[in-house]
Amino acid sequence: MVSSRFLFSIAILLLIMITQAFAQPAHFCINNRGNCTTNSTYHTNLNTLLSSLTYNKNGNAYGFYHSTYGQNSDDQVYAIGLCRGDVKSKDCRSCLNNSRYGITQRYCPNKKEAIGWYSNCMLRYSNRSMYGVMETKPSFDIRNPQNVSSSGVDGFNQELRKLLESVRSKAAAGGSLRKFAYGNATAPTFQTIFAIAQCTPEISEQACSDCLVGAFGEIPECCIEKVGGRVSRPSCNFRFEVYRFIEPKMILQLPSPPLILFPPPPSTNITTVSGGTYMFVPLFRYKVN
Ligand SMILES: *[C@@H]1O[C@H](CO)[C@@H](O)[C@H](O)[C@H]1NC(C)=O
Ligand SMILES: *[C@@H]1O[C@H](CO)[C@@H](O)[C@H](O)[C@H]1NC(C)=O
Ligand SMILES: *[C@@H]1O[C@H](CO)[C@@H](O)[C@H](O)[C@H]1NC(C)=O
Ligand SMILES: *[C@@H]1O[C@H](CO)[C@@H](O)[C@H](O)[C@H]1NC(C)=O
Ligand SMILES: *[C@@H]1O[C@H](CO)[C@@H](O)[C@H](O)[C@H]1NC(C)=O
Ligand SMILES: *[C@@H]1O[C@H](CO)[C@@H](O)[C@H](O)[C@H]1NC(C)=O
Ligand SMILES: *[C@@H]1O[C@H](CO)[C@@H](O)[C@H](O)[C@H]1NC(C)=O
Repeated sequence: MVSSRFLFSIAILLLIMITQAFAQPAHFCINNRGNCTTNSTYHTNLNTLLSSLTYNKNGNAYGFYHSTYGQNSDDQVYAIGLCRGDVKSKDCRSCLNNSRYGITQRYCPNKKEAIGWYSNCMLRYSNRSMYGVMETKPSFDIRNPQNVSSSGVDGFNQELRKLLESVRSKAAAGGSLRKFAYGNATAPTFQTIFAIAQCTPEISEQACSDCLVGAFGEIPECCIEKVGGRVSRPSCNFRFEVYRFIEPKMILQLPSPPLILFPPPPSTNITTVSGGTYMFVPLFRYKVN
């Protein structure tokens, strides 16, 4: 007879394997963007840039970092770092630092362009500017190998679709500091589905939405009828699970838009009335962004 203790150990082992599969980083070395030899100006600039990427001036306190370094156009390097919305600054910097070593030394040495995804962050660099450009490739996906119970598949899919739509529109509407949203839903199988969606915050609402819609389109290959999955693209990513994999309490509040009582002159209207110039200043105005 198999002892329950043994089964329990197997279950734990499986859980660890699943968790590790998700924690495993994914790297893409972009070969057709060319190579850079060790100690070349580009290579040195890349190291300088990445070691300074997480300085405050390059980050926005909501897990988005971008910077560029280099004097001449042919050795200029650009980098973007993005952390999941519930990751503390300290952990974010440490994730980006680990990715830096992983990508430049272990996985993609001497590549001018590369991208790496870890469970808490994404790091990418190139010799071209990527800021504000919505990019869908390369794309990386991973699934939780466990199946949704066959009797509950339709209900699960339906709830998952609604949930993903909801986090997509919330993330896209997030504004220029952070485009990140999470939510949960209950499937008819009584499983709670948790989901997040995120874009790099500097792209537009529409671009973010388009990127996520495209990423959802990968679900059939990635993780249909699975209890978890994740698709990551350079400009956006989403993930869902039937367990709580993020810490909602850690998501920082965004500053509320300032209430402007007297708007600055450029937004006022100047009308000339016989002999004098009057400025009409609306008394109250809410700044909306
Ligand atoms: C980046 O490097 C590649 C390969 O060396 C080159 O073909 C391309 O023109 C460079 N791009 C920019 C924007 O400098
Ligand atoms: C870059 O290096 C790889 C080997 O690491 C080589 O196969 C490839 O041809 C090189 N590409 C260029 C453009 O030099
Ligand atoms: C790069 O520069 C360092 C320090 O100057 C040196 O130790 C190393 O040998 C150089 N590597 C190559 C491949 O030239
Ligand atoms: C970055 O990672 C490297 C290699 O893992 C480590 O040696 C270094 O101390 C880390 N730096 C910071 C600031 O965390
Ligand atoms: C999940 O379902 C697929 C197809 O229905 C089956 O081949 C696979 O063995 C199942 N996997 C698990 C972990 O039950
Ligand atoms: C699910 O989301 C609701 C808000 O929509 C929230 O109040 C609730 O705490 C969440 N449940 C879990 C288990 O996180
Ligand atoms: C100023 O007033 C004119 C005429 O009422 C209007 O056409 C114009 O759009 C106004 N400009 C601004 C900046 O509000």
